[in-house]
Amino acid sequence: MERTLVLIKPDGVRRALVGEVIARIESKGYSIAGVRMLNADRSLLERHYAEHQGKPFYEPLLEFMSSGPIVAIIAEGNRVIEGFRSLAGATDPTLAAPGTIRGDLARDQGTKVVQNIVHGSDSVESATREIAIFFPEGM
Ligand code: RTP
Ligand code: MG
Repeated sequence: MERTLVLIKPDGVRRALVGEVIARIESKGYSIAGVRMLNADRSLLERHYAEHQGKPFYEPLLEFMSSGPIVAIIAEGNRVIEGFRSLAGATDPTLAAPGTIRGDLARDQGTKVVQNIVHGSDSVESATREIAIFFPEGM
């Protein structure tokens, strides 16, 4: 069964959207196979965001992602990787379609890095790698 890593970012936790995000994943028909709340430290975030190292938003992104607790979720189901990306909507919340998590629940706050409530793995390889980072003991 396919799995993806979903993160509820610090803005989502601060705004008490944990239940809302999980409800959307479950309402779509995917299963929750693991949940964990944590404060992500820099070394964990450097591993998770390795592909973005050197980009202009990299430092603000790491700062934002360590600004408060996050919730890591393993969601499971056939084609859940693309399915969750579709539920999340476009990266830029201003452009994300209404009906999506980002389109309904986020907007541009004028911050150095876009704050958009959730992360979702973008491929089977990313999902495997990211789940191992956030659930090192397995799930
Ligand atoms: P994610 O990885 O969080 O699911 O988001 P994504 O695939 O839609 O976007 P990605 O390109 O992987 O970027 C990761 C996160 O970095 C922040 N970002 N800010 N130009 C910017 O200000 C910018 N570009 C990316 C966002 O928080 C994005 O979700
Ligand atoms: Mg991404």
